[in-house]
Amino acid sequence: MSDMPMITISGVNKFYGIYKALTDVTLDIASGEFFSLLGPSGCGKTTLLRSIAGFETPSSGDIRIDGQSMIGVPPNRRPTNMVFQSYAIFPHLNVEENVSYGLKRLKLGAVEEHRRVGDALDQVRLGHLGKRRGHELSGGQRQRVALARSLVLRPKVLLLDEPLSALDKKLREEMQSELRALQKAVGITFVLVTHDQYEALALSDRIAVMFGGRITQVATPKELYQHPLSRMTADFLGGMNFLSGKVAEKVGDILSVETERFGQLRLAAAACGGRPGDRITLGIRPERLRLLWDGEHADHELQGRVMDRAYFGETTHLSVRVDGLERPLSMIETNTYGADDLPIGASIRLAYDPEAFVALADDEAEDRIRKIG
Ligand SMILES: Nc1ncnc2c1ncn2[C@@H]1O[C@H](COP(=O)(O)OP(=O)(O)O)[C@@H](O)[C@H]1O
Ligand SMILES: [Mg+2]
Repeated sequence: MSDMPMITISGVNKFYGIYKALTDVTLDIASGEFFSLLGPSGCGKTTLLRSIAGFETPSSGDIRIDGQSMIGVPPNRRPTNMVFQSYAIFPHLNVEENVSYGLKRLKLGAVEEHRRVGDALDQVRLGHLGKRRGHELSGGQRQRVALARSLVLRPKVLLLDEPLSALDKKLREEMQSELRALQKAVGITFVLVTHDQYEALALSDRIAVMFGGRITQVATPKELYQHPLSRMTADFLGGMNFLSGKVAEKVGDILSVETERFGQLRLAAAACGGRPGDRITLGIRPERLRLLWDGEHADHELQGRVMDRAYFGETTHLSVRVDGLERPLSMIETNTYGADDLPIGASIRLAYDPEAFVALADDEAEDRIRKIG
């Protein structure tokens, strides 16, 4: 990755009439990065992606790609290409014809064109199916043709709008790892739009989380999952147990927080900005709580009762009531030791790691940050 960002988005706002679809979007995407825009349906992901592609014009702000402002530059003059959710490949053309279609206007000559099509098909592992017609392909193969059709144009940036959402789960997971491998092989900057948190976590170098037209956090998958800044982000990305605590002390960026049942916790203050005496929201992921079996002991443990149980094959999700806590705790146990056989009502002990808690901005605080920001 070079030092200069491939894409620089500065202060972009987008109105549709009086509806504001994007608010103050500012973002750098590095060259060669696999970057995802993640958020619930309607949060503005497609609008932002289409603004990068040039299919939408921001109401204000600037988008630069590879150092050049894209204001006023039409889509076909941008170094970008877009793969759509509903990839329309031509059913009556064969795979090679589908892929070479967009190359015609470049007038490369038959030999070069043939070579490029061959390269692109090899990249998506369709080299052997060049003569197959569009209507004779499976969903996954069609999606790979759509990718090849973009790659053959050698864009600097590939924009992908929920490209896998039409595929069934198994195929989607296969295509996810292919997409990741493909991006690493071709080294092009990928910007992926998805509402699927696991897809974003598994594929991306970095993720921007969006709510209501704003970017609320940009981080690596692990940072985002382990240190979400707000309650909304934490809730959107996987399961989270929320509980309340009272700030006892703040030293630098470290909060000491009193809790009902988890003792005094030391936490990075991050975005929540609590002052001594404030009540703040804390979170701990379900998989950071662990069942203790007979004879097992931990430095930090609690007594609880199984209220509910859901079986997921490799894991069991437990809902555990602990006296003194407002809500039951969610726990995820692998089914190695028999968590799937625990009867409802069973009395259990659970271990927790005090380091696994995060302090979260609550939604009002987040709204306040938004208004200031
Ligand atoms: N052309 C349009 N005219 C009016 N409103 C639009 C238009 N396109 C999108 N919107 C609205 O803008 C918001 C963001 O849409 P979109 O970017 O498609 O969200 P996402 O891709 O995250 O689901 C939605 O509320 C949507 O209804
Ligand atoms: Mg969309």
